[in-house]
Amino acid sequence: MPTLTVVDHPLLARDLTILRRRETPHGTFRKTLSDAAAILAYEAMRGLDLEPVPIETPLEPTTGYHLRTDVIVVPILRAGLGMVDGFVRFVPEARIGHLGMYRDEKTFRPVDYYSNLPPGLDRAHVFIVDPMLATGGSAVGAIDHLKERGGRTFTFVCLVAAPEGVEALHATHPDVPIVAAALDRQLNDRAYICPGLGDAGDRIFGTH
Ligand code: PRP
Ligand code: URA
Repeated sequence: MPTLTVVDHPLLARDLTILRRRETPHGTFRKTLSDAAAILAYEAMRGLDLEPVPIETPLEPTTGYHLRTDVIVVPILRAGLGMVDGFVRFVPEARIGHLGMYRDEKTFRPVDYYSNLPPGLDRAHVFIVDPMLATGGSAVGAIDHLKERGGRTFTFVCLVAAPEGVEALHATHPDVPIVAAALDRQLNDRAYICPGLGDAGDRIFGTH
């Protein structure tokens, strides 16, 4: 059953407003995206399984918990890099894979240019992170690639999703839940999300 969770939190709504504003400088954009990603990570990791472990407090034995499953975070380059720090704040032991993809400006189809993935994809919960889910081409391509290499359990986490991207991802990979800060209205004729926040990669790295 495909799911989309739009995270409802006042701090996330405040951060998203900063990210949407045209005049936000790239340094503030980068810092705010990292904070927003941490809130999304907190929600996206809610379903991780725990394993009980016996521990001792200074007073007596009790039961504590470890995460049962390894966590792998895979940013889609470039813009996904802006969300990694927010994720590893909570899970510093997470392994990180990198997938390079950019959208062809005429066809809007993703073009792969890099892949470097850690071992253990088959045993891990893989969080794919990218601020923008527009046509869904990059997300679908990334999950195709990760499934071909053994990945089995995924969550796709983005900041802003377009209805077209959600539909494409749900149709192709219904087993992959989507977690987002906002579901926006639609794509424009250049496949940009409206109202959106513009070109996420350019705004993170100051390349506009
Ligand atoms: C952006 C964004 C996603 C993709 C979304 O990347 O970060 O990866 O577009 O669009 P889609 O859903 O239609 O595939 P972009 O291609 O601009 O590359 P960049 O991150 O290097 O700027
Ligand atoms: N990529 C972006 O960075 N922004 C959009 O609105 C669509 C794709």
